[in-house]
Amino acid sequence: MNPSTPPAEPRTPSLYLPVECEIVAVSDLTPNEKLFRLRLPGGAVLGHLPGQFVQVSLLGWEEAPISVASSPGRGAFFELGVRRAGRLTDAMHRLKSGERVGIRGPYGRPFDLARMAGQELLLISGGCGLAPMRSLIQYCEEHPEEFGRVTMLHGARSPAEMLFRDELDAWEASARFACSRTVDRVTDGERYNGGVGLVTALIPPLELDPARTVAVIVGPPVMYRAVIAELRKKGLGPERIVVSLERQMRCGVGKCGHCTIEHLYCCQDGPVFWLDEIEHMRGAL
Ligand SMILES: Cc1cc2nc3c(=O)[nH]c(=O)nc-3n(C[C@H](O)[C@H](O)[C@H](O)COP(=O)(O)OP(=O)(O)OC[C@H]3O[C@@H](n4cnc5c(N)ncnc54)[C@H](O)[C@@H]3O)c2cc1C
Ligand code: FES
Repeated sequence: MNPSTPPAEPRTPSLYLPVECEIVAVSDLTPNEKLFRLRLPGGAVLGHLPGQFVQVSLLGWEEAPISVASSPGRGAFFELGVRRAGRLTDAMHRLKSGERVGIRGPYGRPFDLARMAGQELLLISGGCGLAPMRSLIQYCEEHPEEFGRVTMLHGARSPAEMLFRDELDAWEASARFACSRTVDRVTDGERYNGGVGLVTALIPPLELDPARTVAVIVGPPVMYRAVIAELRKKGLGPERIVVSLERQMRCGVGKCGHCTIEHLYCCQDGPVFWLDEIEHMRGAL
């Protein structure tokens, strides 16, 4: 664990016992992803930091780790962007506001906000990775004094699969961010006004100061190596690159060993890592 950013203490009372949260709103992000706004009993604050996740459960459908998609500054609610991927998430997609899900956490090591302070940020997300990145983006919006220029690059497979389109419009229009988006392909007749191509193609034209920039990458596994290669060409060393990794998880709290990367537990030592901590580990990327 990096000593500079101790994770917030989990607000749920037991490591193993979920707390029932009310779904106060649910909306479609894409045909396959929904945004859930949740409230802890009594309006208690979750107490997370950007980059952390919660274990979500439904009776009969086990549990799954889901990143918190909203910043801590949203107070008495927090949000989860959930892709329909299997049993639990399929059942979640059938829930309506007023219904409840179990939550444990928040867990995991968050983004190292102390070490990122004063730096220019380059936030690179792909697909569903924009959900955890959104927590950090909202944090940057709420604390403009903490960071230098913030540049965001986001890639999706197609315009229909792009998450948070209205928010991307707002971030693009905001003086706070430089924001570019791209898709792998556009189907005939689809309305879309961004770039076409892989997110890696957005990196070469950037003017970066490698001594003042921290890059953060959250996306599908296939994205990491290609993005890191482009960042290295820009002079960014592994001590200036942050990755958030996904592993199969069960307990979420360092007990079951399902999520290991060599001697590290992704659920506790991660999911956020500085690249120089894990780049030489087998199977990390
Ligand atoms: C730290 C962390 C944060 C995550 N954040 C989000 C998020 O914000 N939104 C979101 O939609 N999903 C997120 N996920 C992924 C989510 O936990 C998995 O998709 C989970 O399996 C869904 O549970 P399920 O019961 O619906 O699917 P299951 O029925 O368990 O499995 C569906 C398929 O996904 C595979 N799978 C299971 N776990 C993972 C995993 N971790 N990575 C890749 N494949 C997996 C299974 O092998 C199976 O093929 C995150 C995962 C981790 C580890
Ligand atoms: S998920 Fe159990 S040890 Fe990490």
